[in-house]
Amino acid sequence: MSTFHINSKKSDFSDTILMPGDPVRAKYIAENYLNNFKQINTTRLMLAYTGYYKNKKISIMSHGIGIPSAALYVRELITEYNVKKIIRIGTCGAVRDDINLRDIVIGLGASTDSKFNRIRFYNHDYAAISDFHITYQAFLAARQMKVKIHIGNFFTTDSFYTDQDMLKILNKYNIVGIDMETAGIYSVASEFRAQALSICTVSDHILKKESVSSSDRESSFNDMIVLSLETTLLI
Ligand code: HPA
Repeated sequence: MSTFHINSKKSDFSDTILMPGDPVRAKYIAENYLNNFKQINTTRLMLAYTGYYKNKKISIMSHGIGIPSAALYVRELITEYNVKKIIRIGTCGAVRDDINLRDIVIGLGASTDSKFNRIRFYNHDYAAISDFHITYQAFLAARQMKVKIHIGNFFTTDSFYTDQDMLKILNKYNIVGIDMETAGIYSVASEFRAQALSICTVSDHILKKESVSSSDRESSFNDMIVLSLETTLLI
């Protein structure tokens, strides 16, 4: 079978999936963390893999950039491929003084400037929240691994380059991470009764104008990848 955007067989996917934005990172995770993995999607080079982490069957698939891209993959995975548990693992911006480059942040909720949820929720404000069970298990896994995390409200934006005045508002309202997908992923997961959580590594501090160099990116993502994989063992 295949859907508009995925050319895999139904049985190719695990019910549990890690979703980075970048296909190259999906390939990196499969090659470095999964045993007996195989590539299961090639459409649009939105690479997907299924393999085993400590004997647990896990899929990895990239979701691209932005809500429109992430939401369609999440929807097709849930409705056509029986995916039930989704952990987005990505990068995000930060604006809070006490959050630093390479810190791991977890989105308990996600505010947004996107109209995606309003379009589907009769123009009302949809409170996009993570799944409690996955969030709690990620919290426990982080404690076990002694990895520091910040848990709070994300801001999911349609515009990567955010206006300075808006950044001050995000700081004022205690936003822990700025990304481009989480608010959409959470609402689609809720709509189709799946569970979702976003775990991100801070790649840029937008107010301090700092960013992780490309050579440091890989090592700083490894903690997030292991935290996410360990979380999959608990959910
Ligand atoms: N803004 C939005 N999305 C992002 C950012 C950012 O600064 N960094 C990584 N993803």
